[in-house]
Amino acid sequence: MRKRIALIGGGNIGGVLAELAAYRELGDVVIFDVVEGLPQGKALDMAEGAPLVGTDARIEGANDYKDIAGADVVIITAGLARKPGMSRDDLLNTNLEIMKSVAAGVRDNAPDAFVIVVSNPLDAMVYTFKEISGFPKNRVVGMAGILDATRFRAFVAWELGISVKDVTALVLGGHGDTMVPLVRYCTVAGVPITQLLSQETIDAIVKRTKGAGGEVVGLLKTGSAFVSPAVSAMEMAEAYLRDKKRVFACACLCEGEFGVDGLYVGVPCVMGAGGVERILEVALNEEEQSSFDASVEHVRTLVGQIQL
Ligand code: LAC
Repeated sequence: MRKRIALIGGGNIGGVLAELAAYRELGDVVIFDVVEGLPQGKALDMAEGAPLVGTDARIEGANDYKDIAGADVVIITAGLARKPGMSRDDLLNTNLEIMKSVAAGVRDNAPDAFVIVVSNPLDAMVYTFKEISGFPKNRVVGMAGILDATRFRAFVAWELGISVKDVTALVLGGHGDTMVPLVRYCTVAGVPITQLLSQETIDAIVKRTKGAGGEVVGLLKTGSAFVSPAVSAMEMAEAYLRDKKRVFACACLCEGEFGVDGLYVGVPCVMGAGGVERILEVALNEEEQSSFDASVEHVRTLVGQIQL
């Protein structure tokens, strides 16, 4: 039997997610949105293109949480996106109320699902989902570090004129302005980038990575990035569905790891059929640890504003 993937939110990211999931035939797809007709319209459009792509995955739209029943994976993008000049944190109050109702809907209708949260402010939203759903921590994760790292990788590859495939990067901490790109752990086919790029160039790449989401918002003016976030979330879903044991940074519930207790922050983890199977604790030097601690404090302050 085919797997079932439920997408909560039929906006821009939801649309690309549906296309990726169905066209890669990862499973049947249901797009849920509160707006009547929107998810049905997007689903119908994609389903009608399926014969040319050669996928037999079914794509449906829904306005009732009952229709996500039996979902193996749920990816949540519901909520408002930033407008130019806004930080992700500015979305807290609006998106908190949305996340509360989404979490209840998913808890009641897809209790066995592996859940990937994409909505912002990410670390606070995934925390909210976990608190309300009561799902085990291995089945609730936030999409963040993988996206921040893919941006970093792109910038390094462009700078060096080499394949994006050969660049690896690791970005930890909160998914916001305080994120921590770990330059020491960024390599080109195993060679540290510090041997290939000047400090000035690396500093510029770090800065651009931290502001990369905002850079796209500034250009689009009417929304935020949606292709790279969707590709990132689908990579995580695929790791779970195909038990790939992939390693990337995601917002995971830390219970002692990296000195963090009871918060979701970006850390490297192994993702497979068990969801977040384990967190990989990598060594941080003094400077990295202090940037990471500052990022964690920022997330703690934001989470402290949440009233459930
Ligand atoms: C971004 C949003 C998805 O980083 O957080 O573009």
